[in-house]
Amino acid sequence: FRVPTPVNEPVKSYAPGSPEREELQRTYKELKSQQLDVPMYIGGDKVYTDNKQPMLQPHDHQHILGHFNYGDASHVEQAINAALAAHEAWANMSWEHRASIFLKAAELLAGPWRARLNAATMLGQSKNAYQAEIDSACELVDFLRFNVQYMTEIYQMQPESSPGVWNRMEHRPLEGFVFALTPFNFTAIAGNLPASAAMMGNVVVWKPANTQVYAAHMIMELFREAGLPDGVINLVYVDGPEAGDVIFNHPDFAGIHFTGSTGVFQNIWKTIGTNIHKYKTYPRIVGETGGKDFILAHKSADAKALATAITRGAFEYQGQKCSAASRAYIPSNLWEEVKGYVQEDLKTFKMGAPEDFSNFINAVIDEKSFDKIAKYIDDAKNSNEVEVIAGGNYDKSKGYFIEPTVLLSHNPTYVTLCEEIFGPVISIYVYDENNFEDTLELVNSTSPYALTGAILSQDRYIIEHAMKKLSNAAGNFYINDKPTGAVVGQQPFGGARASGTNDKAGSMLNLLRWVSARSIKETF
Ligand code: NAD
Ligand code: ALA
Repeated sequence: FRVPTPVNEPVKSYAPGSPEREELQRTYKELKSQQLDVPMYIGGDKVYTDNKQPMLQPHDHQHILGHFNYGDASHVEQAINAALAAHEAWANMSWEHRASIFLKAAELLAGPWRARLNAATMLGQSKNAYQAEIDSACELVDFLRFNVQYMTEIYQMQPESSPGVWNRMEHRPLEGFVFALTPFNFTAIAGNLPASAAMMGNVVVWKPANTQVYAAHMIMELFREAGLPDGVINLVYVDGPEAGDVIFNHPDFAGIHFTGSTGVFQNIWKTIGTNIHKYKTYPRIVGETGGKDFILAHKSADAKALATAITRGAFEYQGQKCSAASRAYIPSNLWEEVKGYVQEDLKTFKMGAPEDFSNFINAVIDEKSFDKIAKYIDDAKNSNEVEVIAGGNYDKSKGYFIEPTVLLSHNPTYVTLCEEIFGPVISIYVYDENNFEDTLELVNSTSPYALTGAILSQDRYIIEHAMKKLSNAAGNFYINDKPTGAVVGQQPFGGARASGTNDKAGSMLNLLRWVSARSIKETF
């Protein structure tokens, strides 16, 4: 089988005066001035309720973007019924026709939908234009294009046969419906979780984070324009536990495709375990969860490159990437030089609303996150084990703004070196440059997570040694680079340990979780 060869969507620069910048600015203004009334999508219906929830801009929380229609358990029931009603026709549609819908969505998104999805992400999630471009439009285009390629490879995976016997494998969708539960921070991930399951012939109930409804709505409209039949993906806005109560008690629950925090995923897993006897089939449980991503520098590292890895790796999208560096281990010989570079670089980081394209730092997602991050900073300021090297100020009067903050901890197990903060805070531990071995052990043992990590060194033996010692400490490992910015088709993404089931988003490994294969032997 041959499908169009997938290529990564080229990232636009949005340089001053460029046509793409003008289009994005115009679209941003248009969306900002509209007061959208965002419906749920159940079957072929747009569903409105009396419970209208405001869509806030994190950088300007007094200016709402419109409302979304909040549902309840009855809407989740309806969404499951609509999904199950669509199951037979969708499962029996040939894979080529399913693939066509998602390839068309990719081309619409690379073209006319690009500015709308990026602007929605900038407004609703407070992401700057460049980060919106890579994490929203481009990455979702890539997920769709590459997954279509992987899908065709799966359907071609066939066993050996012999004269008189023809063996074959049918890669069928799961029996029941898949629940896609998506986080606020990556628009592309939110679109990919329902789409990848649906691509393999499954029907889906999708619940996005309440703080990401604007972009989720755009993605749903995009899929509909691309020709996705009614009921294949049903989008509901409901309280998470309330939705979970219906979903995880339903006999046709066949799988969850989750990205979000570790605690939520672990509770979901426990609930599924408790209810396991209620289901027709063992559900597939796929989850990408939290991180405490590290940068480990060896005494041979280049100080300037290390400083750049710290400032970019920790503070793109205000540190709210699951992949963001949030702890760094620096050898004593490099520290003063690195500190100087980091402090200099941070002076160039402007903070404000994303409509000013020169602002690198925007707001954190909501008041709950703001208060949580501010508390970590306050506690650090009050600790005699920690020094604030940069930033440390915050203000939520207009938007949820927190300065990029660098903490130097003299205690290698201080809380900010161990727990996920999910904000613009990185903690540094400076180790004796001759004690690399103990530092490897610290990296391995001070956090339960294993999502991303980076080693910076100019010594190939050291790199090889660290890779072996840290073989389970990161699902995505970077050599002499920052630990963010994995590209679909190039660095399949996912973590181990408490960071997830490591089914690598945007890969064949992930798509294989959404099929239930039947082996057929025919004798002549
Ligand atoms: P979250 O866990 O708060 O929410 C994720 C989804 O679960 C949302 O739709 C939310 O409404 C829902 N939810 C929350 N509590 C629930 C409950 N009790 N029952 C059912 N549903 C519930 O995560 P978030 O704040 O949206 O995203 C940030 C987290 O996601 C961070 O921990 C980050 O590391 C992680 N993340 C991981 C990856 C990855 O690839 N590993 C990628 C992005 C984000
Ligand atoms: N692609 C995202 C990153 O690696 C998840 O930062």
